Parts: sequence; C-alpha cells; structure tokens
Amino acid sequence: MSFDLSVPLRSATVSRLRAAGCVFAEDEAEILFSTARDAAELDAMTERRAAGLPLEQVVGWAAFAGLRIAVDPGVFVPRRRTEFLVEQAVGLSGADAVCVDLCCGSGAAAAVLLSRFPDAEVHASDIEPAAVRCARRNVESLGGRVYEGDLFAPLPGTLRGRVDVLVANVPYVPSGDVGLLPPEAREHEPLVALDGGADGLDVLRRVAAEAAGWLAPGGRLLTETSERQCDRVVGTLAAAGLTPRTVTSEELYATVVVATR
Ligand SMILES: C[S@@+](CC[C@H](N)C(=O)[O-])C[C@H]1O[C@@H](n2cnc3c(N)ncnc32)[C@H](O)[C@@H]1O
Repeated sequence: MSFDLSVPLRSATVSRLRAAGCVFAEDEAEILFSTARDAAELDAMTERRAAGLPLEQVVGWAAFAGLRIAVDPGVFVPRRRTEFLVEQAVGLSGADAVCVDLCCGSGAAAAVLLSRFPDAEVHASDIEPAAVRCARRNVESLGGRVYEGDLFAPLPGTLRGRVDVLVANVPYVPSGDVGLLPPEAREHEPLVALDGGADGLDVLRRVAAEAAGWLAPGGRLLTETSERQCDRVVGTLAAAGLTPRTVTSEELYATVVVATR
C-alpha cells in the first residue's frame, strides 16, 4: 500500500464488503489494501468485489502454495484444496523431472513445480485463450512452456513416453450441479473450466485414454476429484491400464487419485 489509508476509509471498505455479503470482509479488505495503489483504485476494486467478482480476479492474483499466481478476469481461480494435488505432484517430482500441467488454467501447478525444481522440464496447456495468456505470465517467467489447445494435442510430440508427472486438474463438476456452484464460479469462471459432463468424468475419461502414451514407465498421472466420484475415477484409470491409488486431505477436503504407468 502506497497511500494514506485512513481509519474511516478502512472501516468504510469493510462495511461495503460486508453489506455485499462477503463473509470474510475484514480479511478481504486487507488484501484490497495491500494491492490497491491509491484510494481511487481501492474504490474501484471494492466496487467490483461488491458486484460479485471473485476477489482474486479483482486484485489480479491468488495466494497458492506460497506463491502469488496471476489470475485474470475469466480465468479459473486456483483453489486452496488444489494445493494438496500440487504437493503430491511435488513429492513425486525431482530436480530433472519432466512434468506436464494439463488443463492448466492459470498455470498454478506448473508454477509451483518450477518454483521447487527450477531445472525441471515443465509444460502446461489449456484450451481457453485467456487461461493460456495468464499461464504464460505465471509459467514462462519461471522457464516453463505453455501451449493452447485441446488436452494433449498442442504438446510437443517429443514428450511422448517421457512424462514423469502429469497433473490434470480437469473440470469435474457434473453438468447438473453447475447451477449449484457459488455465483462467483457460475458467473465469472468459464463453463469449460467447470462442467465435466453428465457424471463429471467426460474430460477425465479422455485424459485417461491417452495418458499411458505420454507417461514414462513408472510415470504418474495425478488428478483431483470428489469423494463421491472417486471410485469411478479409480475404475476409469485402471481400465486405461494404469495402477491407481487414492490420497486424501481432511484439512483441505481434497481427494486425489495418483495413477502409475
Ligand atoms: C478446474 S479448471 C483447473 C485449472 C487449473 N488446473 C487449476 O487447478 O487451477 C479446468 C481447466 O481445464 C481447461 N479445459 C477444459 N477442457 C479442456 C480441454 N478439452 N483441453 C484443455 N483444457 C481444457 C479449462 O479451460 C480450465 O482452465
């Protein structure tokens, strides 16, 4: 913060956020205070947040696994829960690992992998141009590569059979449940980032069908799912010739399936 933040402006901001229904108004206000460069910008940010934009899209960044990840309007906000998926991926990677972040969104997973293993070979891809632009800022600045296109299609063919760690946080909300998501997601994140088809597994099935061709022997595919969908995800990955196991975090309410080639 580089301007004089008076006590009345502080409390007026908190009140505006609270009146708009922000449950964590004080915490959110602190993030706005730390990001806005002047009172006019603080006012504009408060307005956009009060209108329902996700806080991360308002300030342009999300805190994720100790990093500040750039998040543009219209780009999926990396969830706290996904830190568990990414920590599993970090645990299975190494200094010279070959990693792919498929359906990368902002590129949060790829950025964390590169921040831990600066010499790793990290590639990321997404179908949404806005996500790809955002991921390029987060990932290419750390030495990774980002491609635009459908699942594996834009990846360099030289990666076939060489991928040690394939992170795929694909959309997995069943189509019928998308309407039940909070308005921040429904109205400000693209449907393609959320909707996983009738049972939520449409994209995962397509990833599973191709994964073995890209993984190195012993390489792992890691995907986040819900408790409810977990058995079907395990079955899908086993049917694709991989050996799946499940890991969970009660603290982050996260379920991850790790499938080994
Ligand atoms: C649930 S979001 C996850 C984003 C990011 N991995 C994360 O954890 O923050 C799913 C992402 O998959 C992308 N996506 C959906 N269908 C895709 C496809 N067929 N090919 C590539 N990306 C796709 C969406 O654009 C979105 O960015």
